[in-house]
Amino acid sequence: MKTLVIVTHPDIKSSLVNKRWMEELNKFPGKYTVHSLYEKYPDEKIDVPAEQTLVEQHDRIVFQFPYYWFNCPPLLKKWLDEVLTRGWAYGSRSGYKVSGKKVALAISLGVDEHEYHPSERYKYSLAELTRPFELTFEYVKADYRPLFAYYGIEYNTSAEWIERSVPLYLDFLDAL
Ligand SMILES: Cc1cc2nc3c(=O)[nH]c(=O)nc-3n(C[C@H](O)[C@H](O)[C@H](O)COP(=O)(O)O)c2cc1C
Repeated sequence: MKTLVIVTHPDIKSSLVNKRWMEELNKFPGKYTVHSLYEKYPDEKIDVPAEQTLVEQHDRIVFQFPYYWFNCPPLLKKWLDEVLTRGWAYGSRSGYKVSGKKVALAISLGVDEHEYHPSERYKYSLAELTRPFELTFEYVKADYRPLFAYYGIEYNTSAEWIERSVPLYLDFLDAL
């Protein structure tokens, strides 16, 4: 079964790394369903039944996004609020449609990994900062997996740095 990669980038045309990851994944349509929320919903009106059907058709779901203000871009939060409905994602015996599915985050970040550390500027690791995602997906009984992160994009925008991330990301997806 294919892996569903839900991409949430408000300005994918100007993106370096998320755009590159999407291009790469789109080379393997038999392996990945790449679903770009801001491109699908430029008016930000999410088709909830369509999203739920898409989730039901996949056993592995990756949420790929650039890290903005220590969080995800807003359309992904809206997606969580609207798509994970009571009776479908939780709260009834026939619900829990995400239950057992492998779910992971794939995040690109501007600053370096060592800065997300108790003795440094941003104090917390990315695993700690993404606890709301962990709790959300545990709440709906998904199999929440450790995240993939690629750091330092504000410090190094070279093609080499971007390309370096591609096999790392593909390996992560393959191992999910
Ligand atoms: C509005 C905004 C907020 C950002 N907040 C953070 C942040 O909190 N932490 C961080 O490491 N990088 C932050 N960045 C940097 C982005 O994460 C980085 O530019 C992005 O991951 C690069 O991916 P892209 O090439 O696909 O756009 C921010 C960038 C923008 C535009």
